[in-house]
Amino acid sequence: MLGIHRTSEAFLLDQQRVVRYHGRIDDRNSYTTKKDKAEREDLKLAATELLDGKPVSVPETPVEGCLIARPKKSSTGPVTFTKDVLPIFQKACQECHHAGTAAPFSLLTYGDAVNWSAMIKEVVQERRMPPWHADPRHGHFSNNRALSPAEIKTLVDWVEQGTPEGKAEDAPPAKEFADGWRIGKPDVIFEIPKEVSIPANGTMPYKYMVTETNFKEDMWIEAAEARPGNRAVVHHIIVFTMLPGAKKPISEKNWIVAAAPGDEPLRLPPGVGRKIPAGSKLVWQLHYTPTGKPETDRSQVGFKFCKTPPEKTARVYGIDNKRFIIPSGNANYRVEARHTVGHPVTLLGMMPHMHLRGKSFEYKATYPDGRTEVLLSVPQFDFNWQNSYRLEKPLLIPEGTKIDCVAQFDNSPGNPANTDATTKVTWGDQTWEEMMIGYLDFIE
Ligand code: HEC
Repeated sequence: MLGIHRTSEAFLLDQQRVVRYHGRIDDRNSYTTKKDKAEREDLKLAATELLDGKPVSVPETPVEGCLIARPKKSSTGPVTFTKDVLPIFQKACQECHHAGTAAPFSLLTYGDAVNWSAMIKEVVQERRMPPWHADPRHGHFSNNRALSPAEIKTLVDWVEQGTPEGKAEDAPPAKEFADGWRIGKPDVIFEIPKEVSIPANGTMPYKYMVTETNFKEDMWIEAAEARPGNRAVVHHIIVFTMLPGAKKPISEKNWIVAAAPGDEPLRLPPGVGRKIPAGSKLVWQLHYTPTGKPETDRSQVGFKFCKTPPEKTARVYGIDNKRFIIPSGNANYRVEARHTVGHPVTLLGMMPHMHLRGKSFEYKATYPDGRTEVLLSVPQFDFNWQNSYRLEKPLLIPEGTKIDCVAQFDNSPGNPANTDATTKVTWGDQTWEEMMIGYLDFIE
């Protein structure tokens, strides 16, 4: 009767059953941002005005919620789930959309897909899904999840044709996901030493914990995955090696693996390993964000060991600039950082890191012969997705190459993720502070 399209769509009716307000409950959640508190409680204000006998001042607001898929009457058409849609899901969606991951639902079966069909059409057309933010003009990436225009059309056609299922024999073999581990079954799993309690409200400083590996000899890992115990509260995890006798526990040089939305587990090419020396401990950096109710977490990390001793070592380096002040209100503030490569390395991938004011990020190499090359450009950075960009072909970077990272920040009210456009912003751990790091994954 009301023509409801989306979840969380509110209708306020008066005694005569006339709709006096239609729209969102408040402005706290949107598809890309989530405020701590609503700035306008639209439904409450409308109800108050109505009860006071006044006209509702804002009778209509936009709603951001999930489209409600309705059962279709006919479902035949040339584009079918088994033949056309499932291969696209396997390539671009299922890695995240299966049980026990950050995605809120699975996209493994026909039933899953039909329930979400209306929303799937919307997110692929708007390119909100799959999350991928590299400018296609620079670099080729093995984990490129972007859909081609033809793939988007296939998904849209399928929804518009009424989501036909198709013949079972057309379906590609199902992908296996071992107990939620994206790297497959790990050889060893470590847990944080005790359960962490996360209060309902407020901010938690980064939490650091230490786990013994009890490795009696040097170990080499070819794959690693950090797994949040409670995805509602875990903002990110980074696991580092703490070498026996080390004084400074955390160093980027000893980075093993991280977990953040959009990021992927560590998977190294054949013949390459990340070393964990005998007697090392694991140091966990855990960032929790309260949800409004008390929560607990017990996160894990899984390793797969190299079958034979690798020839090469894989490491991480961060090109950063910690000395910046982003003026209040500035929509386009530039911060630069440069690193000169001291010895030849092979670049495997990159991951730009900024917080809520992050707007764009670029890596540019200037080779010793003067040639320049943009290695990665992320023109529209989105803090929700800490994507790493893995090169399709590892790139040899000669000694003396300069790598310039350029970040732009938006500290204006026009940035919907901005928590406060009236203050200047400097380096800090919390998301309302900023960071500027261009991580490099490389082989020594
Ligand atoms: C890198 C992981 C990842 C990939 C790949 C991915 N998704 Fe998602 N998807 C998510 C997460 C996480 C959410 C929840 C987003 C949130 O809560 O804001 C989500 C949400 C959604 C939603 C709900 C609408 C919304 O905006 O929250 C739809 C529909 C969806 N994904 C469809 C897809 C489709 C179709 C594909 C492949 C073409 C895909 N996703 C690929 C992680 C992923």
